[in-house]
Amino acid sequence: MSIIPKIIREEKFTLETLIDLLMAKGDDIQILYREAALVKLKYIGRKVSMRGLIELSNKCAKDCYYCGIRKSNTFCSRYTLSVEEVVETAVFAYKSGIGSLAIQSGELSNSVFIQYISEILTRIKTETQGKLGVTLSCGEQSEETYKEWYDKGAHRYLLRIEASNPKLYQKIHPNDKLHNHQDRIDALYRLKKSGYQVGTGVMIGLPFQTYEDLANDLLFMQEMDIDMCGMGPYLEHESTPLFDFKDQLMCKNDRYQLSLKMIAILRILMKDINIAATTALQAIHPNGRMEALKIGANVLMPNISPGSSREFYALYQNKPGMKDSPADSLEKITSSLDSIDHFFVKNDWGDSRHFFNR
Ligand code: 5AD
Repeated sequence: MSIIPKIIREEKFTLETLIDLLMAKGDDIQILYREAALVKLKYIGRKVSMRGLIELSNKCAKDCYYCGIRKSNTFCSRYTLSVEEVVETAVFAYKSGIGSLAIQSGELSNSVFIQYISEILTRIKTETQGKLGVTLSCGEQSEETYKEWYDKGAHRYLLRIEASNPKLYQKIHPNDKLHNHQDRIDALYRLKKSGYQVGTGVMIGLPFQTYEDLANDLLFMQEMDIDMCGMGPYLEHESTPLFDFKDQLMCKNDRYQLSLKMIAILRILMKDINIAATTALQAIHPNGRMEALKIGANVLMPNISPGSSREFYALYQNKPGMKDSPADSLEKITSSLDSIDHFFVKNDWGDSRHFFNR
């Protein structure tokens, strides 16, 4: 007899039971997915919230051991979109009915960068009469900066903790002031204080990562009472230090299944938050994002970055859609949604229900 329905019905989500859920095998996996799908249908429905993803710049002050745009990767050609290019792309999104943007970039905190983001926000809000929602994902910043960007119109912010276990965090980052686990947690608190809907997330299937780490990641998100989550499989990049450990990784299919399990369990734990079906899921499996939507996710982020810059924002290798135009990305996604009986509402911000139910 499966223990999964009992754990879920009695809401006994301890470290041990979460590990059991993550280690589910055979029929138990389908039971878990079915339960998560039911929770999603009850609390969220079949609606998918869209964020047009704009990758602003791959210039980064950080040197994370897993990331293809890390500072020390000299094979990476660097670019920064002009304010004009970003605004044009935002207007394209607006006219296509995408109600919201996710603006992402490498992590910089100098005054030119802070000003650049502020200008982009101001221009987008003006050109779309304040009707386009904006999620930012531009790393750790001071409280003053977070507040400035909030005042300029950003209302959601994604900052992945990457790994909630400080020891694991230390293994996948340089051990210096710029890559401090507690500082990253503090940044999440600053974001909350500044008024944002706050999202975090982790990579799944990292070298050195255990089931216990992942179960603790889920508890971390619950304890932080986050509004949104973006998480996906770790994918190796040959020009990064973590590539040396590629032989220790789970096979891609196991990383994919484990990522889906994390999404399903998080949906059961945090019923009304926004959970993204991330690009990394699509990179690891041709139907990854749609499968994630079926079992718990409710946010899609089609890449609408201008074609000229796309290939340079390679966080990992074999990122899908590198050659697509913004219109291609959008069309691919909407036709896939039909196939799983989901839909998106035009010009909708798709805010986190959890934030407003709090
Ligand atoms: N594999 C998967 N995800 C990655 N990210 C960065 N590098 C990789 C990789 N090699 C994720 C990080 C970061 C987000 C923007 O992309 O979690 O926060």
